[in-house]
Amino acid sequence: MKRVFSGVQPTGNIHLGNYLGALTQFVELQNENEALYCIVDEHAITVPQDPKALREHVLDVAALYMAIGLDPKKAIVFVQSEVSAHAELGWILCCAANTGELFRMTQFKAKSQGKESVGAGLLTYPVLMAADILLYDTDIVPVGNDQKQHIELTRDLAIRVNSKYGKDTFVVPDGRFMKAGARIMALDDPTAKMSKSAPNEKSRISLLDPPGKIKKAIMSATTDSEGCVRFDTENKPGISNLMNIYSALTGKTIEELEGLYAGHGYGDFKKDLVEVTVNALTPIQERYQDIRQSQQLIDDLHDGAARADAIAQKTMKRVRDRFGLGIGR
Ligand code: AMP
Ligand code: TRP
Repeated sequence: MKRVFSGVQPTGNIHLGNYLGALTQFVELQNENEALYCIVDEHAITVPQDPKALREHVLDVAALYMAIGLDPKKAIVFVQSEVSAHAELGWILCCAANTGELFRMTQFKAKSQGKESVGAGLLTYPVLMAADILLYDTDIVPVGNDQKQHIELTRDLAIRVNSKYGKDTFVVPDGRFMKAGARIMALDDPTAKMSKSAPNEKSRISLLDPPGKIKKAIMSATTDSEGCVRFDTENKPGISNLMNIYSALTGKTIEELEGLYAGHGYGDFKKDLVEVTVNALTPIQERYQDIRQSQQLIDDLHDGAARADAIAQKTMKRVRDRFGLGIGR
C-alpha cells in the first residue's frame, strides 16, 4: 500500500481550483492507499491571520473535506498543529535547506515582492511543507501545478539528507497532478491562477457559492472575440480554462467538448457549464452544513491527529537517531 499525503491551507474560500486540482484526487486516492489529509494551519500563519477566524476556517475546511467524500474511516484527516512533529521536523529540515534555494521559490518571490519586512516563515514555508510530507514516509502527493516547485524542493531535501545520514532516512515522494484540473485560472483574468485571496469575487467559484453567484461568475468570465469553442491555451486562455473546468467536472475530454459545441457560441457553452457546476456543487453544499455543526467532525479530527501522531513519532525517532539529536534511549 502506498502512503499519500496532502494539505490545504485554512484561509477561506476553498474554490474550484482547489477542488479540481487537489481535492478530487484526495477522494480518489483514499480507497487504495493509506492516505493522510491535513489542514495546514501552521502554513496559514505565514501571513497575518485573525485567531478566531483561523479556527473557524480550520473547521470549515475539515467539513468540506468530509462533504466532498473523504471518509475518516479510510483516510486520516487532521489539523497540522495538533501533531507537533511537523514543526519539529520543519526546524531540522531548515538546517538542511539552503537560503539560496528558498529565495528562488516563485511563490516566495510573488508573496514577498522583494520586501524584506515579510515574515521569515514565508521564506521557510516550503521547508515546513517538506516536513509535512517526509514525516509520513509519503510516496504520493496529490496537488495542483502551483506546488510543483515545492515538491521538487521536498525531493531535493530528502535526497540530500539521505546521502548524508543514510539512504532510508526519508522516502523520496512524487507529486501527482490532474490532467484538466491542475491549473484552474481566474475567471476574470485567465492569465492568473484562480486564488482564494483575489479581491474580485467573480474571479473564482467557491465551493459553497449559491447557484446565482456561480451563474454570474461563469456568464461574465473573460473569453475572446472569436466565438468558437476551441482549446488553445496560448491564444484563447479564457475559453480553454472554462473547457478545462467542464472537462474536469464531467470527465468529458476536450476533444469531445469541441465536437459537442461545434457551431455553438460561448453563450450556449457557458449556460451548460453553469448547470454542470451547480450540479456538481449542490450535493457537497447539502452535506456541508450538517457536518460543519456536528460533534462527529471534532471527534474525527481528534482521532485523526492521534493516528497521524503515532506514525510521525516513529519517523521522528529515526530522524533524531540519524542526526544524533537527544541522548537516545
Ligand atoms: P492552497 O489553497 O494554496 O492551500 O491550495 C490547496 C491545493 O489546491 C494545493 O494542492 C494547490 O496546488 C491546489 N490549487 C490551488 N489553486 C489552484 C488552482 N488555481 N488550480 C489548481 N489547483 C490549485
Ligand atoms: N503549500 C500547499 C499550498 O499552499 C499546502 C501544503 C502544505 C501542502 N503542506 C503540504 C500540500 C504538504 C501538499 C503536501 O497549497
